[in-house]
Amino acid sequence: MVDQSSQNEDLMQDSNLNEHHHSSEDSFQSLIEENLGAEPAEKVNQDVGAGRGVYISTYGCQMNVNDSERMYSLLEMQNFVPVQTPEEADLILVNSCSIREKAVHKVYSEVGTFRKLKDKKPDLKIGVGGCVGQQEKENLIKTQPMIDFVFGTDQIDNLPQLVAQIYTDKTKRISAKFEHRAPYHVETLVRNPGVATFVNIAKGCDNFCTFCVVPYTRGREKSRPLQHILADVRTLIQRGVKEVTLLGQNVNSYKDSGIDFADLMAAVATETDIERIRFTTSHPKDFNQKLADTMALHNTKIMEYVHLPCQSGSSRVLDRMNRNYTREHYLEKIAMLKKSIPNLVLSTDIIVGFPGETEEDFMETVNLVHEVGFETIFAFKYSPRPFTKAAKFEDQIDEAVKTERLNRLFDSHDAMAFEMVKSYEGQILKILVEKADREFGKVQGRSTSNKLVHFLGSPDLIGKTVDVKITKAFPAVFRGELVQ
Ligand code: SAH
Ligand code: SF4
Ligand code: F3S
Repeated sequence: MVDQSSQNEDLMQDSNLNEHHHSSEDSFQSLIEENLGAEPAEKVNQDVGAGRGVYISTYGCQMNVNDSERMYSLLEMQNFVPVQTPEEADLILVNSCSIREKAVHKVYSEVGTFRKLKDKKPDLKIGVGGCVGQQEKENLIKTQPMIDFVFGTDQIDNLPQLVAQIYTDKTKRISAKFEHRAPYHVETLVRNPGVATFVNIAKGCDNFCTFCVVPYTRGREKSRPLQHILADVRTLIQRGVKEVTLLGQNVNSYKDSGIDFADLMAAVATETDIERIRFTTSHPKDFNQKLADTMALHNTKIMEYVHLPCQSGSSRVLDRMNRNYTREHYLEKIAMLKKSIPNLVLSTDIIVGFPGETEEDFMETVNLVHEVGFETIFAFKYSPRPFTKAAKFEDQIDEAVKTERLNRLFDSHDAMAFEMVKSYEGQILKILVEKADREFGKVQGRSTSNKLVHFLGSPDLIGKTVDVKITKAFPAVFRGELVQ
């Protein structure tokens, strides 16, 4: 496994640039590619941000949302001031996502909208980070000269140094190496954590599902030490946090010298005063009885909701996806979970139109959705990604067929989901109130099973768990009344 991963990664680092992109041109010889990080952030010029505003545009998953928070925090230490619009900014960062189609195109079109700003403000600097930055490296600057620097997903902690250099020597830079050997030691940096927040426990992915770009854009899997995670959770509690979501590309392959993900969850439940624990995303192949038992044992704290991406209901397709489970295995895991956690609510991710998917394969997916009874599905048309095996499969599916299948899947799920959520009407749920609604006089929060609920209530309720009677239930959102 390890061998295969490192081999794949080397391939990505060395040859893909030639395969997918243009070769270097004379005019870009001044580009500097390097692995920064020699100097800790504190030593970097603190004043570079003084009088300057920073705006970050964030795409993609919760990892990226967390990374953007980290970037803001690090730049604030350099005296940059976060601003609400690109127009007010002196530094604009695009934190990009590459999971599906047109990822690079989206970066270019967003950067294109900053052209006028740069004309007006010649000192405006534009940087691209995130998964497209990691994937494309110098090609971004070569194609779009308005971009001043590119930084990879492992280079966020070096952002202060990179930005300081960009402002001083005016040379374009790329910093996109993976920190292979460095342990994953980061303190959670969130500016305003609110009531419910995320804590990274692992980064990267070694699974190499044949459709997925993440192993190439986030590098090898690494776990944070248990004690660091516990310390973060305790600090967040002191800042008013009541609920944490433990975050990783594949949380249940978490490892810290003999401690697995179930042990980690048990430790967070018993060794901190956190009220609610959630986690995402888990991989079906690693979801075991021990984890289900841990959820059941700590069911007052660990929430009764699991997002378990199946991707397909056809064993033949799952095999070609390199998911390492069959339809039958998946259903066994679901049965085990439902048995251990009686009120469990499930959601999933699905890809339709994976290369070679037949109508029969697709119908197996539709049937699986009904058999399991997912309250929520996140379904996507297959999109070929750079570096991935499936992008080279010859039996790619027509776009029109993908669209038709996706619509059919959503229609079929909608009918079931509207029916399923009706049973919540009249029930009293425990809601952790997260914030005031846009609608005056209302607040919103989440149920133990992760349902978003809006109801009339005072902002004093924020941070409290209250009983709410559900009056109207739609698949994505509920309305209710506070039970006094
Ligand atoms: N680590 C998670 C998934 C992270 S990506 C897991 O293994 O479940 C989030 C979702 O994006 C995936 O579950 C998948 O459904 C979808 N996805 C990933 N690559 C895709 C691609 N090439 N085309 C379409 N959807 C994709
Ligand atoms: Fe991508 Fe998830 Fe598969 Fe990893 S486990 S390769 S992140 S889909
Ligand atoms: Fe996108 Fe990278 Fe997350 S590709 S989904 S931002 S890990």
